[in-house]
Amino acid sequence: MDNIADEPIGLFDSGIGGLTVAREILRNLPHEQIVYFGDTARVPYGSKTRETVVRYAEQIMRFLLTQNIKAIVIACNTASAYAIDDISAQAGRPVIGVVEPGAVMAAQATENKRVGIMATAATIESRSYDKAIARIDPAVQTFGQACPILVPLVEEGWIDDPVTIEVLKRYLHPLLEKDVDTIVLGCTHYPLLRKVIRRLVGDKIHLINPAYETAQALKKLLEEKKLLREKPAEEGARYPYRFFVSDNAERFADFAQSILPVDVRTATKIPIEHY
Ligand code: DGL
Repeated sequence: MDNIADEPIGLFDSGIGGLTVAREILRNLPHEQIVYFGDTARVPYGSKTRETVVRYAEQIMRFLLTQNIKAIVIACNTASAYAIDDISAQAGRPVIGVVEPGAVMAAQATENKRVGIMATAATIESRSYDKAIARIDPAVQTFGQACPILVPLVEEGWIDDPVTIEVLKRYLHPLLEKDVDTIVLGCTHYPLLRKVIRRLVGDKIHLINPAYETAQALKKLLEEKKLLREKPAEEGARYPYRFFVSDNAERFADFAQSILPVDVRTATKIPIEHY
């Protein structure tokens, strides 16, 4: 009988952002196989309603379940904020999002108990980070900042660019005015801007990348459920990473290749609305 622990982990995001989560999983759980779905036809999620994001997430879950996955990582803050309860209730296997692990890390990092959250408009509106942080440490005050223009800038590859720097200054200013000592990069695209943000805020502010903590939480969860893959795939075994998208497969594969430490080969386009 096949060992369930040898099956892949399913990850999804609205597009390329979740690759920052995939990168941390590859670094921290090197034996695991990954099936990634990027909803490149319907990005951005951050400006959509809860109802729409939940519907998209459910379609992606149904697609991932056709790929024999042993667990699901919602590698998107917006989808985690809106859809984690629905996906957890329906998936029939362990599900983890990025918000809870990010909140744990932020609550631990802050010394002055003032945490800023940069995220999409939908994530800020859901108040998911605020609620999760309050559950961990009710003494922590949170300050949300919706940053709707950052995702298109990152998707365009405008990282260390004067326009992006100007936009970041506008978004960071209100948080710095609130004297936060910790800022959550609460959208999976933002870790790609980390160096620029670090330059703008100086080195006294903790920058929280929920992707790192999600990989650690995933490892713990798989260990608890006895689903952690213990050994690497044998020589000549099937290729351990599969990438699917809803549009622009070639562009996605090029981008994935530029940020992942593995050979991406190709991405396959899927008619996701049929699931
Ligand atoms: N990757 C999504 C997130 O983490 C943001 C991109 C989008 O708006 O779709 O929230």
